[in-house]
Parts: sequence; structure tokens; C-alpha cells
Amino acid sequence: MFTFDIQTTDKAELYRELLGAIDAVTAGEADGIANMANAASLFWQYLPELNWAGFYRFVGGELVLGPFQGKAACIRIPLGQGVCGTAAATRETQLVADVHAFPGHIACDADSASEIVVPIVRDGALIGVIDLDSPRTARFDAEDARGVEAIAALLAARL
Ligand code: SME
Repeated sequence: MFTFDIQTTDKAELYRELLGAIDAVTAGEADGIANMANAASLFWQYLPELNWAGFYRFVGGELVLGPFQGKAACIRIPLGQGVCGTAAATRETQLVADVHAFPGHIACDADSASEIVVPIVRDGALIGVIDLDSPRTARFDAEDARGVEAIAALLAARL
């Protein structure tokens, strides 16, 4: 059993604690699915105002749904489509304040209003993306981007 007490509401500190928690549950575990499942659970536990948190894996040239928390979601996303496919194709974090204004946004959950997607890259190869959705417009900012990117960098070697 893992028990984590969230000690802060300060966003930078929250991401430091979340990174530490994900580090602790994935250290020494070689199974990437297990590590994504625990990381999705910790995103859900630590970060407020989320309606979806999880992973898409880069498999066979497209994104395929991975472990997540939230409602059942779209299973396959072609590269270049939607927020996730754009992050995967460009390998750049996508911070979307209003998903309804994002051309080609894929509405998996009608509750989503804003979204952040961070690519996971290992040795120049795309592994997948981390996707967080919020029912609040403009929920995610540059601090979230830095925090999730640090987690993507940690997980890149553990998926
Ligand atoms: N909205 C995403 C699809 C994935 S769901 O949000 C879980 C997109 O446009 O890529």
C-alpha cells in the first residue's frame, strides 16, 4: 500500500511532492503499464479540478489509450489530430485554455474545458503523452507545464 499525504496548496510545491510520489511508486518497477496506472492515480489524487488524467501510448504509428482516471475515452488518436495528436506530432507541450477554440479538438468527455498534453520522449523516440483535462477554462498554466514536463522526463525511462 502507498499512502501519500498532500502537504501543500502551493502549485510549485504540489508538483515537487507529486514528482516525488511518482518517483517513489515507479522506482525499480520495469512494467510500464503498472507505472502509468500508478502515475495516473497520483495525478488524480494530487491535482485539483481534473475530470480526466492519463496516458496515450505511441503504438504502431498512432496514439492508443493507456491507463487513466476519469470517464471512458477515445481509444485511438492519429498523429496530428486533436490536442494529444498535436503534442505527439510536434513533441511540444500543448496548453489549451479553451478546448472548444482548439481546431480539431477531440471531445472524449463533454465536461472538458481546458487541457494540457505533454509528450514523453526517450532517446529521441516518442513513447506517448500525458493528458490532463479540466472542467475549468484556463485551468493549466506555465507552472503546470513545467511540473508535468518534469514528470514526463522522469517517466520516460520507466515506461
Ligand atoms: N481531448 C483530447 C482527446 C483525449 S481526451 O481528452 C481524454 C484531444 O483532443 O486530443
